Amino acid sequence: MKKVIAIYPGSFDPPTNGHLDLIARGSKIFDELIVAILRNPEKNPLFGVAQRRHMLEALTSGFRNVRVDTFDGLTVDYAIRVNASAILRGIRAISDYEYELQMALMNRKLHPELETVFMMPAEKYSYLSSRLVREVGRLGGSIEGLVPEMVEQKLKEKLDPAVKFKDASKSKAVKSRSR
Ligand code: PNS
Repeated sequence: MKKVIAIYPGSFDPPTNGHLDLIARGSKIFDELIVAILRNPEKNPLFGVAQRRHMLEALTSGFRNVRVDTFDGLTVDYAIRVNASAILRGIRAISDYEYELQMALMNRKLHPELETVFMMPAEKYSYLSSRLVREVGRLGGSIEGLVPEMVEQKLKEKLDPAVKFKDASKSKAVKSRSR
């Protein structure tokens, strides 16, 4: 039987619990799900593509049928290249719908054989976006519970490099005490 491959394209800057919720849902209905990070030189991302890839690989390592990749150019061209027959996108609220519909129809115009599949993340993530996570993090608000712990830590390090230094010296102190 034909394997159904889907891509889940996005910026993932940074990955949130909403993204992971969608990956978990997508992995249940597709044989293979490729989380595809857009390499967009025009945007000025907070995390580089390699960092986002590393985070997503670590966060999805428990899913047997999920892998992470990067792409540039048209999403539909990438989808065809990896033999995908579906594009997975999340819809959080009705406000997402207009933009997502426009993209889905344009993608259908470009490649009619590709289907866009919309899934809803858990309601508790319906207000969550990478943009808000970046903003709240930058302004010192708590992002606990909105992103995986690994992302929270990386975000803290990114926004305040002293955190990395503090944590490194803390673990050094613990090591020397335990010697
Ligand atoms: O996470 P995002 O930023 O909402 O993802 C948007 C993304 C990457 C899916 C969209 O910008 C995209 O598909 N970009 C690739 C270029 C492309 O195919 N453009 C035409 C879309 S109709």
